[in-house]
Amino acid sequence: MHEDIQEILFTEEEISQRIQELGQSITNDYANAIAAGESLALVCVLRGAAIFMADLARAIDLPVEMDYLAVSSYGNETKSSGIVQLQKGLSSSIEGKHVVLVEDLIDSGLTLSFLRKNLASRKPASLEAATLLWKNVGKGCPRDIKYRGFECPDEFIVGYGLDYAQQYRNLPYIGTLKPQVYTK
Ligand code: PRP
Repeated sequence: MHEDIQEILFTEEEISQRIQELGQSITNDYANAIAAGESLALVCVLRGAAIFMADLARAIDLPVEMDYLAVSSYGNETKSSGIVQLQKGLSSSIEGKHVVLVEDLIDSGLTLSFLRKNLASRKPASLEAATLLWKNVGKGCPRDIKYRGFECPDEFIVGYGLDYAQQYRNLPYIGTLKPQVYTK
């Protein structure tokens, strides 16, 4: 285990198993649409979701397009600024395609809400969201997120795409950071 990690919350094996299940659900849900000649596009929210997206895409047994957009709200801070900005838009049109927006973490829900509106205005055939993790801080379960991995505690977590000051994204597991790392 990395010396800056306090506790592993989800192991590499647990993450892999859950992603296989999510991939199977997506495969089941879109098989008819693909058979009818329609398209499925996964849209990754950079940067944190890139690793989840790469594994999720390979757990889906259907042809999928993959596109990427980037937003910023947290920067290098541990608290959201409350303002979501689009930093990089999609490379391809999603009009008429079934879209699954892929996030690594839903916290306040602000980013998801911003992106839902933005993507919906581009006239996809349908729009759903997938997140590997969500924090449930007195808000109730985010029912509008169809594909969900794990609920996680309201702590500072890193690994498997999630960073602190752009570090730890390449850890194969998800864990909490030792407080002395972010208080020094
Ligand atoms: C994280 C995460 C989500 C967002 C969720 O991104 O990847 O996009 O915060 O927070 P919210 O639900 O409170 O809006 P971050 O800004 O840390 O960027 P990154 O993906 O590049 O690490």
